[in-house]
Amino acid sequence: MLLANASHELRTPLSRIRLGVELFEAKPDPRIKTELARDIAELDDLIEEILLASRLDIAAAPPATEDVDLLALVAEECAHYKGVTLDGELVVLRGDSRLLRRLVRNLLDNAQRHGRPPIRVELRRNGSRASLSVIDAGEGIPPSAREQVFLPFHRLRGDRKGAGLGLALVRQIARLHGGDAMVTPRPDAPSCIVVQLRIA
Ligand SMILES: Nc1ncnc2c1ncn2[C@@H]1O[C@H](COP(=O)(O)OP(=O)(O)OP(=O)(O)O)[C@@H](O)[C@H]1O
Ligand SMILES: [Mg+2]
Repeated sequence: MLLANASHELRTPLSRIRLGVELFEAKPDPRIKTELARDIAELDDLIEEILLASRLDIAAAPPATEDVDLLALVAEECAHYKGVTLDGELVVLRGDSRLLRRLVRNLLDNAQRHGRPPIRVELRRNGSRASLSVIDAGEGIPPSAREQVFLPFHRLRGDRKGAGLGLALVRQIARLHGGDAMVTPRPDAPSCIVVQLRIA
């Protein structure tokens, strides 16, 4: 399914590039060249994400493990976004910091892109588990789509702002770290994604 969807998704930037090349041949405008470079970069990112998803799919453990200060990592990522508040406890776990950074970034991207500000992030420690919640003030994900959004390339109807790989990667990364990712709305936070990770 990943392969079939991936081939389909790669067609969109490819056909834009094809069109750009034709336009550029007819009229060598530097703006067309800039657009082409952007489309190529986007295609490159998409391929990188598809490859990562397929690599993680067959991995049994995180590729590289080290002691990760998750609170520091989450704080660094939150600092890249405007208007995000973090309420966190100290959590240090064995994991792959590059993947965990990506997990946090994907969730913050989603909150910003699909949700509404303000964005709240909570990091809690419950015994041998850490739980990371990313909450925004939007409507959240409807009950009927709560599992599907974790499938590769699944987007809510009409949502064409991204490829639909972000949450699939979030879940894969969480599972590789002995946990999981779920859409977990709360009465005070209808738009809330929770990631659980194993600490010990
Ligand atoms: N915070 C949120 N609020 C509302 N809808 C969301 C939120 N996060 C995700 N979604 C919905 O879930 C879909 C899947 O999210 P996912 O991160 O997998 O893909 P994407 O953001 O569309 O693309 P990508 O992350 O690959 O750039 C989104 O397209 C969006 O419709
Ligand atoms: Mg996303």
